[in-house]
Amino acid sequence: FFRSVASPPSSNFLLLGPSGAGKTAFTTLLEAKSSPASKKSQTTHTSQTSTLITVTLPPSVPTGSNKYRSINDPSLKEATRNPIRYRLKDTPGHGKLRQTQGIAELVSMSSSKDLKTKIRGLLFMVDTAALVDEATLRDTASYLHDVLLVLQQRALGKGKSSTKRDAEIPVLIAGNKQDLFTALPAGSVREKLEGEIERIRKSKSKGLMDAGGGAGEEEEEEEVLGDDDGKGIFSFKLLEQVGIKVDVVGGAVKGDAEEEIGSGVRRWEEWIGMCL
Ligand code: GTP
Ligand code: MG
Repeated sequence: FFRSVASPPSSNFLLLGPSGAGKTAFTTLLEAKSSPASKKSQTTHTSQTSTLITVTLPPSVPTGSNKYRSINDPSLKEATRNPIRYRLKDTPGHGKLRQTQGIAELVSMSSSKDLKTKIRGLLFMVDTAALVDEATLRDTASYLHDVLLVLQQRALGKGKSSTKRDAEIPVLIAGNKQDLFTALPAGSVREKLEGEIERIRKSKSKGLMDAGGGAGEEEEEEEVLGDDDGKGIFSFKLLEQVGIKVDVVGGAVKGDAEEEIGSGVRRWEEWIGMCL
């Protein structure tokens, strides 16, 4: 079929992550890149509500359905004429707003059968310069843990009786602020988050065991992330058993002044492209 220029964007991406990670800065940048005419103010402040924007994928970014596009490929010209658009939902990362906004959004978008709201991919943004701080690491990892648990429950088909399993939702951990010299590289970000989630997992399963000994009052059964009853050591790889793929990719919304604007988010756009 032919994609007409006016066709609405058909894919949704959800942007989660703790406060201050740079979600709104990223959203603002993508919006500015998509429609250079409507340059928005570059200043951000703590978000209190979600916002949905429509973004144009740069024609030079390959899509999953068109992996082998080369510069001479006629489909590149086609992509330039009929750019692919997608929707991105920016959510507030403040701890008090996560359950009612980010997580709630994830639950509703991931169970949606409607193409208009169905989710194609999940971006979880972290501040890679702030993870050396224990409290920030704990806060970031606990939010990520809760997000991955929602995806795992969905993947295992629990809580909802759906016969036909939907495709799993891929996760991109967008390691932002790589421009700062204190920033951790993607590999360390992965290790730190995995290590901290392991701690959270341990204390949760211990809590469950303790509660299990109590009388009557049965705590709602909550599985352990990684679904191995907490026996092994947590890694994102463990989630591949239930079909959830997690990538950690570094980048920067605010890059060097000399660099082309938006070049620091190129690899995240490539990840988005592969989901399309
Ligand atoms: P909440 O709305 O509270 O959830 O936060 P947020 O994730 O939307 O963060 P926001 O986009 O408001 O960015 C927080 C701060 O980080 C702002 O001062 C941004 O300018 C700054 N920031 C964002 N991206 C980068 C980056 O790549 N490098 C640097 N150095 N600063 C950045
Ligand atoms: Mg924000």
